Amino acid sequence: MIFWRVKPLDQILATAEKHHLSRTLGAFQLTMLGIGAIIGTGIFVLTSEAAQKAGPAMLIAFVIAAFVCALAALAYAELAAMVPVAGSAYTYTYAVLGEAMAWTVGWALILEYAVAASAVAVGWSGYANGMLAHWGLGLPEFLRIGIFDGGGFNLLATLISLLITGLLILGTTESARVNVILVLIKIAALLAFIFVAVPAVKSTNFHPFIPTGWGDPLSGGGTGVFGAAASIFFAYVGFDAVSTAAEETKNPNRNIPIGVIGSLAVATIFYLFVGYGAAGSVGAQPLMHNGVAYAPGSLGMANACQGVHNLVCSKEALAFVLRDLGFPNIGQLVALAASVALPSVILMMIYGQTRIFFTMSRDGLLPAVFSKIHPRFKTPYVITLITGITIALFAGIFPVGKLADLSNAGTLFAFAMVAIAVLILRRTQPDRYRPFRIMRGWTWVVSLGAVAGCTFLFFNLSDKTKLVFVIWAIVGLVIYYLYGRQHSELAHPHE
Ligand code: ALA
Repeated sequence: MIFWRVKPLDQILATAEKHHLSRTLGAFQLTMLGIGAIIGTGIFVLTSEAAQKAGPAMLIAFVIAAFVCALAALAYAELAAMVPVAGSAYTYTYAVLGEAMAWTVGWALILEYAVAASAVAVGWSGYANGMLAHWGLGLPEFLRIGIFDGGGFNLLATLISLLITGLLILGTTESARVNVILVLIKIAALLAFIFVAVPAVKSTNFHPFIPTGWGDPLSGGGTGVFGAAASIFFAYVGFDAVSTAAEETKNPNRNIPIGVIGSLAVATIFYLFVGYGAAGSVGAQPLMHNGVAYAPGSLGMANACQGVHNLVCSKEALAFVLRDLGFPNIGQLVALAASVALPSVILMMIYGQTRIFFTMSRDGLLPAVFSKIHPRFKTPYVITLITGITIALFAGIFPVGKLADLSNAGTLFAFAMVAIAVLILRRTQPDRYRPFRIMRGWTWVVSLGAVAGCTFLFFNLSDKTKLVFVIWAIVGLVIYYLYGRQHSELAHPHE
């Protein structure tokens, strides 16, 4: 049946060979790209939202999200090493579950990458606006917060998205070099935080440990420890962006697994220490009304935060903790580091998005102009420009938490599909060369665990987020039906 036509793996690899990008990235740069994509708004900004949802038990939320990501990372590493092409989850699904499903995954990846880029730009603007205000150059509130966040237009979030788009058009190698420096700054900031906060941990701050309960997906989702896990999942997203750089990687069969698993492992270690330090040093008790925690980002929460000095109300979570512990200068430095370095996450997200669009266009599911490469800079400049402008507009108007949750919905869907693809390919093509394999005997446990974990977190997102995701998927299928189905390369095999 036409909807289920698959693109054989050998054909995928041949197409990639035909119009490939130039290979410049090694294992170190790739791991740095991964860390660059992972450590960002999640830990620097959304830590306070996780605290509001789960209290000190946000530590459990960090562990749950890390565990689900680790399972998904193993699945990604196997497929990305085996099929090192730019399309990531989209391409793997194309080979295994067919074109309509691949399109749906590609469409969901727009949420993962583009919406995440907007979320990170907004998170970054919190720190950047704080810095400007500190220097007496603060913007008026109307230009600090988007219209759907109670303001007007988030000017800085828009400007940073456009700036990074320009950098990406100039070239990958240059961008990767800048990225390494930014990653080092972020790591230095987290280390400084850990060294100050962890020794200040007091056991009394962990009581009560689970003030809001575990959460219940059947009655709305988005609350308790599980709701916090579904949101803080955002902090780990990005390791998979490594796989979108497969066509620009030297020796991808070895370097991609190193980049995917290595970057996630490094980030996880940092996060557990940071989460422990944050909750244990200044306390992380949520603001509640009649025994129910306010929803982060709601009007009730904004009112409850008036004049209250609490981690859960801060837009600069890590800087807040350091100031509160009596280290305002280190807090200021961490805020500066976040302002300088968070853009590396936006860079990786826009980069990943353009590479996926590039692949979808090469497959004929999006117009050919999207895969046009710049004659001098050798980058897919048309799609980078379109993507960057759209991301900048979204960043200008929406709040960070809502964007992050929506991005999580798309990511969880894509991760689950990748894990399913691993299982199917093990069955249908057992003899194909796999440079990286999930440990012998563990494939089913890991892959089914990843599917179950992603499904569980998905249902723990708020009902509103799930609804927007479903609408997004339906719109995507309509577009596929009207355009991609006829224009697909597979529909014209003779050309
Ligand atoms: N993991 C990335 C961040 O937290 C998307 O900013």
